[in-house]
Amino acid sequence: MTEQQRPSRATEAFFGRRKGKPLRERQARQLDEVLPTLVLDLSQPAPDRIEDLFAFPPARLRLEIGFGGGEHLIHRALEQPDTGFIGVEPFVNSMAKLVGRIEETGARNIRLYDDDATEVLDWLPAASIDQIDLLYPDPWPKRKHWKRRFVSKVNLDRFARVLKPGGHFCFASDIDTYVNWTLLYCGAHPAFEWTAGNAADWLTPFAGWPGTRYEAKARREGRSSAYLTFRRV
Ligand SMILES: C[S@@+](CC[C@H](N)C(=O)[O-])C[C@H]1O[C@@H](n2cnc3c(N)ncnc32)[C@H](O)[C@@H]1O
Repeated sequence: MTEQQRPSRATEAFFGRRKGKPLRERQARQLDEVLPTLVLDLSQPAPDRIEDLFAFPPARLRLEIGFGGGEHLIHRALEQPDTGFIGVEPFVNSMAKLVGRIEETGARNIRLYDDDATEVLDWLPAASIDQIDLLYPDPWPKRKHWKRRFVSKVNLDRFARVLKPGGHFCFASDIDTYVNWTLLYCGAHPAFEWTAGNAADWLTPFAGWPGTRYEAKARREGRSSAYLTFRRV
């Protein structure tokens, strides 16, 4: 997609911090040396077979948007070594943390992107991804900021394009208004159906759920979470 074709900025601009406290020397070295070997080059077209991004032929492909400290992503990557993972996170300190974990564990099934996830979504070939994880996206709890939320009509169109038919979009949040918002947007989108089979489904974490750092904070502050799974029809 060219810049002119990209949908309006209002639904996809960045509002978060990209840089926090200075990196430790080791982290700075890892970002300099390891990240370039893992980062996607969006200046080149995506390979026809997106599996070719990996050094082995992955059985499945998952995309995690806004992985934060990367605890969930590294857990899933080690748990599912035959799956290829693409992780996107613009916050430098978070990226440094995950790159450190990748180096420590030797995980070979992760590729990264350190900027806006909408760019990766527009770069990926259609129907190439089995699952998108959007876990505790920035909540924007004030009504006047709701339009900044990552879940939007234009981003659901992006998800619908890159997900394989039968693929899944998994969403977790501790913010009631964001959960309702996502149910409404996905409910109104012809490409998605909610997989909940009974009333308790959305209270039950995803299978093998390790939690995330943001979730632990929400729990400490007394907020419970909802876990929504939508199928790409
Ligand atoms: C509330 S944090 C949650 C982090 C992590 N998923 C967790 O549960 O601990 C949201 C994350 O989304 C990232 N983020 C915000 N906008 C993004 C975008 N457009 N593309 C990719 N990541 C984004 C932020 O940098 C932040 O790390």
